[in-house]
Amino acid sequence: MDKLVIEGGNPLSGTIRIHGAKNAALPILAASLLAQDTVTIRNVPHLLDIDVMLDILRDLGCSARYADRSVVVDSSLASSSHIPESLMRQMRSSVFLTGPLLARFGEVQLYQPGGCAIGERKIDLHLRGLAALGAEIQEKGSLIVCRARELRGTEVILDFPSVGATENIMMAAVLAKGRTTIVGAAREPEIQDLQAFLNHLGAKVRGAGTDTITVDGVTELHGGDFAVIPDRIVSGTVMVAAAATRGDVTIEGVQPAHLTSLIHVLRRAGVQIEVGSDIMAIRAAARTKAVERVVTSPYPAFPTDLQAQVMTLLALSDGVSLMKETVFEGRFKHVEELCRMGADIRVDLNNAFIRGVPQLYGTSVEATDLRAGAALVIAGLAAQGRTTVEQVHHIDRGYERIEEMFRQLGGDIRRESNKTLEAYHAR
Ligand code: UD1
Repeated sequence: MDKLVIEGGNPLSGTIRIHGAKNAALPILAASLLAQDTVTIRNVPHLLDIDVMLDILRDLGCSARYADRSVVVDSSLASSSHIPESLMRQMRSSVFLTGPLLARFGEVQLYQPGGCAIGERKIDLHLRGLAALGAEIQEKGSLIVCRARELRGTEVILDFPSVGATENIMMAAVLAKGRTTIVGAAREPEIQDLQAFLNHLGAKVRGAGTDTITVDGVTELHGGDFAVIPDRIVSGTVMVAAAATRGDVTIEGVQPAHLTSLIHVLRRAGVQIEVGSDIMAIRAAARTKAVERVVTSPYPAFPTDLQAQVMTLLALSDGVSLMKETVFEGRFKHVEELCRMGADIRVDLNNAFIRGVPQLYGTSVEATDLRAGAALVIAGLAAQGRTTVEQVHHIDRGYERIEEMFRQLGGDIRRESNKTLEAYHAR
């Protein structure tokens, strides 16, 4: 298994460009199944989750080629609507294929993705939305079979603005008969990107970015050429790392509007941030200050995917901060690891009380999930001494060679035994 070895203490500095958004690329790849012609998708990051999604598309009969961060998908020969259980277990996001497969074949077989390191992660909202569009859903143990002779537009009300459920329902509705209105939709930028992609292929979707999305069904989608947005969570991770190491970093090709809530929190902590149209400069000359209360919530509020990283910064900030997690129930696994590095954090249900310490100390820690892993890398970069982060495969799901990204900014970080992606390809 790979591990990252970090010699802490170097303030990060320099300029960096951020790769494309995993959470935009995954549903867009799934949506390419809806098109009759070849689709080219650019700015697709080279990540484990993307490889799994491409394998699933191939398993369904599509041709999917990946080179130079571009994917060319031809789904004209897709012949199966059965998402293999082994691949579904490897990546929860394979659930995104439900809407497109149902729209295309009138049937889809998938498996309950099950819980994961950060919580229960049910898919009831996805299935209820598809049922509202006319799908008949049968659950046989962990196997789920959805069938619909015809999908019909209707009003779908989401009790919670689930990102994945919003995307699945949008994709199923694109080829449905008539108008679908999703009320209580999630508003994340990745949903706006999916809308832009679908419309580029000839769909009629509007409202993404608001809580009401309207889809007027069309009979078919054509091919196209589309580039996904930059990854706001990777950008946010670099911003927090710059602040935690008291560095001076410029991020290019970023969309600052997607990071408003983080910018607000970092400024409250005393970080200087200059914002241009697609560029941001982050500077922290002195120790940051505690932030009284940070609460994760669906976009545009503070993202759960940056909770762990910001907790590392607050662990080093002067004073007492509260971090409240309201999106996932099990997302504080990094706390124990941060405390092993000298942090003073106490958890009570979904609240973490953080008493800032002047210094973290390097030791051996374990990445329990993707963002928790990123938080530990930031801690290692800021800590005194050597930190070893184990279980790097979690981090590789969402960061393209995180060690190279931080090395480019002057971090002393290296990977030992670089086998994760190679091993996956060699199977
Ligand atoms: C997406 C992101 C993930 C991010 C999350 C919240 C992708 C690939 N992943 O995940 O990085 O952390 O949004 O911003 O885009 N829920 C239900 N029933 C459902 C669906 C969700 O109860 O049918 C619950 C979940 O258990 C969770 C909450 O809703 O507690 C949020 O989940 P959701 O917004 O669906 O997240 P994902 O789409 O899985």
